Amino acid sequence: MRHDHLLSAGQLTREDIEAVLDRAADLADDPGAVGERHADRLLALCFFEPSTRTKMSFDTAMKRIGGDTVDMGSVESSSVKKGESLADTVRVIEGYADGIVLRHPSEGAAKLASQFVDVPVINAGDGAGQHPSQTLLDLYTMRERAGLDDLTVGIMGDLKYGRTVHSLASALTNFDARMHFISPESLRLPRGVRFDLHDAGARLREHTDLDEVLEELDVLYVTRIQRERFPDENEYQQVAGEYQIDADTLERARDDLTVMHPLPRVDEIAPDVDATDHAAYFAQAHNGVPVRMALLDGLLGEDAATDGGDAR
Ligand code: NCD
Repeated sequence: MRHDHLLSAGQLTREDIEAVLDRAADLADDPGAVGERHADRLLALCFFEPSTRTKMSFDTAMKRIGGDTVDMGSVESSSVKKGESLADTVRVIEGYADGIVLRHPSEGAAKLASQFVDVPVINAGDGAGQHPSQTLLDLYTMRERAGLDDLTVGIMGDLKYGRTVHSLASALTNFDARMHFISPESLRLPRGVRFDLHDAGARLREHTDLDEVLEELDVLYVTRIQRERFPDENEYQQVAGEYQIDADTLERARDDLTVMHPLPRVDEIAPDVDATDHAAYFAQAHNGVPVRMALLDGLLGEDAATDGGDAR
């Protein structure tokens, strides 16, 4: 990739995406193919919000390409607790590591951090903003299961606060995809995201009822209601438990429908879906390792610092 930071899916061209996915497929077949290139490299994991998959798969991926990681630990145990600014924190950490993976509750945090350091910054989720490395593994999974062209994708759940949704929709505009967004009225895509999608030529429709489109879908991407982003718990309670699917719901779907979810799920997908051929969400999570290996290999590669590419 010619970028030196990965901040949002909007910076990725179709060529960038395909290069990462192709490399990921190669590394899934032959994890040793990277050799010793990253043997002396360290990746800093800076998670200011909870994470299981993203953090552990970046950790695993870095180790699998021969490097190692240093972990900031929890906010509770770091100097952030003493009032240190994000800018100062990342300026210190760039002295320890060759790249920074950052998850933060504020939208724009990764972009801000990237302005203070010279090492690559990967946005691993900035509030309700973006989560572009998740998008790469989502696209990898979609490509494996359904192909990325002539694709009809339903994206359902919390479209307002779901950063995985914002990144995925943006990246899908590079492909021949029809997008159906299914949510309660109060959790529709934010206007700015909708505007950018239209601007990028997206073919999209919005629905409040899954039944309107279920039969057409190749992929149904289900998301969790992002409880932690609601300003008011009562507002969350009004939408909690909406938009759940189970094996019965999927009786009306195409046999080859792929059901995805970035996880963690709460109650959006009933456990009886897990045993069906539709379920791809655990494989999707596992794909995080080869995809992040490919991403790190590209961003930390010999040429990353010298080829003049700049996405800042
Ligand atoms: C997602 C996230 O953090 O945005 N999780 C993940 O990285 N797989 C989705 C979520 O928390 O609902």
